[in-house]
Amino acid sequence: MIRSVVRGFGASLPKRVVTNHDMEKQVDTTDEWIVQRTGIRQRYVAGEGETTASLGEAAARAALDRAKLTPADIDLIILATSTPDNTFPATAVNIQNRLGMHHGAAFDVQAVCSGFIYAVTTADAYIRGGLARRVLVIGAETFSRILDWNDRTTCVLFGDGAGAIVLEAQEGEGSNADRGVLTTKLRSDGAHREKLYVDGGPSTTGTVGHLRMEGREVFKHAVGMITDVIEAAFEATGTTAEDLDWLVPHQANRRIIDGSAKKLGIPLEKVVVTVDIHGNTSAASIPLALNEAASDGRIKQGDLVLLEAMGGGFTWGSVLLRW
Ligand code: ACO
Repeated sequence: MIRSVVRGFGASLPKRVVTNHDMEKQVDTTDEWIVQRTGIRQRYVAGEGETTASLGEAAARAALDRAKLTPADIDLIILATSTPDNTFPATAVNIQNRLGMHHGAAFDVQAVCSGFIYAVTTADAYIRGGLARRVLVIGAETFSRILDWNDRTTCVLFGDGAGAIVLEAQEGEGSNADRGVLTTKLRSDGAHREKLYVDGGPSTTGTVGHLRMEGREVFKHAVGMITDVIEAAFEATGTTAEDLDWLVPHQANRRIIDGSAKKLGIPLEKVVVTVDIHGNTSAASIPLALNEAASDGRIKQGDLVLLEAMGGGFTWGSVLLRW
């Protein structure tokens, strides 16, 4: 059976770090409020010349290096982003060009904070369907460019960055027999649009717009939706929370992460948390967290790893894989 196996991973962050104390000079907030409500201590903010494509390209190059591959070995690039460089062409195509890759195909998927889950699911379907052998899956965002920097209820929460993995078709023999993506679950429900959206766009206002959010409403739905898709992944694979080596959640808020882990009976020692240093980087948060935990040796080959996210739309989903 063909499986999509993670062959490499990488990440890239903007140069500038913005701490909560820096945010105190921007809006009426405090380090204490932000840490207590969200767990965020700092975030990275893109500066001049840093874009979704430049961050995505750097993350992709890091993932290729770790996989000991070059762009010539890749046949598909899928980029998850809600902050593209331009309305079109797709930022994935821009990254393809920056990598010097002029074969294969590249496209964006847009599912806000669940984007990386949607992108991995799409890549896995291409690989298992025999349409691609090696897919660069990237999550890259510059949310700082769609924030209302005068709105303290949103601007303190988000950051910029990019992460990437290389997924490769493997036949699953010998020690590789049970590696790869085991199941994916996607959900969406547009009835929740008003709770988290951008108030602009090419076909409505002709502007880029700003992120708007009813934080308390998002919070109310988050834990239930996340546990729902995680339980569906367990059911599909006959696994339980006890079998997991690592939960790598979307990094929106420490309280949502802890609440979901508690509800599922997953000990916090098995949860990868980076929201304190990255803030919420939307589609980039899971591959950034994967890069941290796989680089420092926590996630090892053969580990059972669960990814989950929930975000604007609402969209939500999970991916269960053996690293
Ligand atoms: N600094 C200081 N005070 C603030 C700030 C701030 N940055 N922001 C809001 N406040 C104030 C509010 O004005 C309010 O004051 P009031 O009581 O005088 O009216 C008070 O703090 C409480 O506001 P709430 O919105 O009720 O605070 P809450 O405890 O819900 O925390 C938060 C807000 C952190 C946004 C929380 O609702 C949350 O995390 N929601 C989830 C949203 C999220 O993570 N979205 C990310 C995208 S979706 C996703 O990725 C899952």
